[in-house]
Amino acid sequence: MHEDVAEILLDEETIQGKVRELGAQISRDYEDKRPILICILKGAVIFTADLMRSLTIPARLEFMAISSYGNRVRTSGVVQILKDLDMSIEGEHVLVVEDIIDSGLTLTYLVDNLRSRRPASLRTCVLLDKPARREVPFKPDYLGFVVPDRFVVGYGLDYAGLYRQLPYIGVLKPEIYQGSA
Ligand code: PRP
Repeated sequence: MHEDVAEILLDEETIQGKVRELGAQISRDYEDKRPILICILKGAVIFTADLMRSLTIPARLEFMAISSYGNRVRTSGVVQILKDLDMSIEGEHVLVVEDIIDSGLTLTYLVDNLRSRRPASLRTCVLLDKPARREVPFKPDYLGFVVPDRFVVGYGLDYAGLYRQLPYIGVLKPEIYQGSA
């Protein structure tokens, strides 16, 4: 275990088992379709890569990058798109892939924005849900795990850009983020 991690919340085997389960479910639900997976940079990169490889249906891959909002912007729910899709999604089956939902503001904004582009269908697949932090109601169509309100890192999730490469989801030691505040 990494020395900055206090405890492992979800180990590699547990995560990989869930990803395979989600992949099988999505493959069944999208049988005869060729969905576009939209990976929301950067946190969802690892999850998307594993999820996509667990699909047995043909799928395409797109990326979007959005700004992390400051407190002022956060309350308005407005999220800035830093990198948009490379293609039109009109008439396409779209699955948004996210690593975590906290307040729900990011996904609420994204779903509204993407829906206005008139996809044939639009669903969300989220690895972690932290319901204690919710500010606007949002329920992902596909969900991996519900997690407590703790500072989690690994499997794509970062603190100050680090720890994304850990194969598990761990709780960061408070002294790591308190020290830099
Ligand atoms: C995280 C996560 C979501 C968002 C969820 O991204 O990937 O996009 O926060 O939070 P919300 O439900 O409160 O809106 P982050 O800003 O950490 O960027 P990153 O994915 O590039 O690490």
